[in-house]
Amino acid sequence: MNAPLLRVRDAVVRFGEARAVDGVSLDVHAGEVLALVGESGSGKTTLVRAVQGLQPLSAGSIEFDGDEVGASRRAARRDVQMVFQDPTGALNPRQTIHEIVAEGLRIRRDRGDEASRVGEALERAGLRPAERFMERYPHEISGGQRQRVVVAGAMVMEPRLLLADEPVASLDASIRGEILALMRSLVDDTGLAIVAVTHDLGLAWNIADRIAVMYLGRIVEIGPTEQVLDDPRHPYTRALLSVVPEMQRMEQQILVGETPDPRRIPGGCRFHPRCPLVASGEAARLGIEDRCRGVDVTIDEQPGESVAAHRAACHAV
Ligand SMILES: Nc1ncnc2c1ncn2[C@@H]1O[C@H](COP(=O)(O)OP(=O)(O)O)[C@@H](O)[C@H]1O
Ligand SMILES: [Mg+2]
Repeated sequence: MNAPLLRVRDAVVRFGEARAVDGVSLDVHAGEVLALVGESGSGKTTLVRAVQGLQPLSAGSIEFDGDEVGASRRAARRDVQMVFQDPTGALNPRQTIHEIVAEGLRIRRDRGDEASRVGEALERAGLRPAERFMERYPHEISGGQRQRVVVAGAMVMEPRLLLADEPVASLDASIRGEILALMRSLVDDTGLAIVAVTHDLGLAWNIADRIAVMYLGRIVEIGPTEQVLDDPRHPYTRALLSVVPEMQRMEQQILVGETPDPRRIPGGCRFHPRCPLVASGEAARLGIEDRCRGVDVTIDEQPGESVAAHRAACHAV
């Protein structure tokens, strides 16, 4: 296996008392889509901003292609690009599509072949023929096309890693699938890697090779998409899955307890106050309840273990 493109080790981001990211380790390889899923407030956006170099770490390290992210003065790398959630807010209404897509190149004073590179990026993003779109303005195209313009603006930089934070959350259901298919085709055609942040496990099912589930700043389960969805090992993942409409074969589990607060991360397993295994007495029967309440648990990584390993941070696993 090649060295990972992105290597995150024990990453911590604190905002005062809050530990928004609290010890994340993660590898992402070229040519894969990793879905980062978890409830709102679990630290997904903060982690992605740290990967992009926009958010300094309080501890730990992030390496992209062997270089420490944030170690250089440049805030963000060209080969790591971000696709934002709301295409309308991200586009300047007074700029033509050509100007919007060319912006990253212009900022870097890299204007050689600009027109042909913009045209290529538009076509790669599915806006064909590109000439039909170049001189138009954002309000003259549809919402789905605007999201494609955002993707083109990232692709023109020829990134090796695309960070997509809730990429289809603001789109109509009818065009979500199209944009997801576009993202998948970019990976398959160019060998790009994508980290797609979502609270929607259905989205993960559609495009991800692997899923990482985040809870209160930590990854609590990670593995190949089919394994995580067919055989979830962490009680938190099971609870998330049980409320997905397409997964109705599972008994619904509504999580009890307080909504998680990164200023007060529980001791022991951070999920234990809401854990159905603890609440139902199952943890006691398994003889692990004391550990659930008193011993922190992380996803342990065996040296040399396959990147495709399925792991969960739970005393019951
Ligand atoms: N700039 C900030 N200052 C203070 N707290 C923040 C800041 N950004 C995020 N947080 C807090 O960090 C936690 C994680 O937020 P975030 O990364 O946005 O989660 P997610 O994207 O999973 O919803 C939340 O409790 C949020 O309120
Ligand atoms: Mg977020």
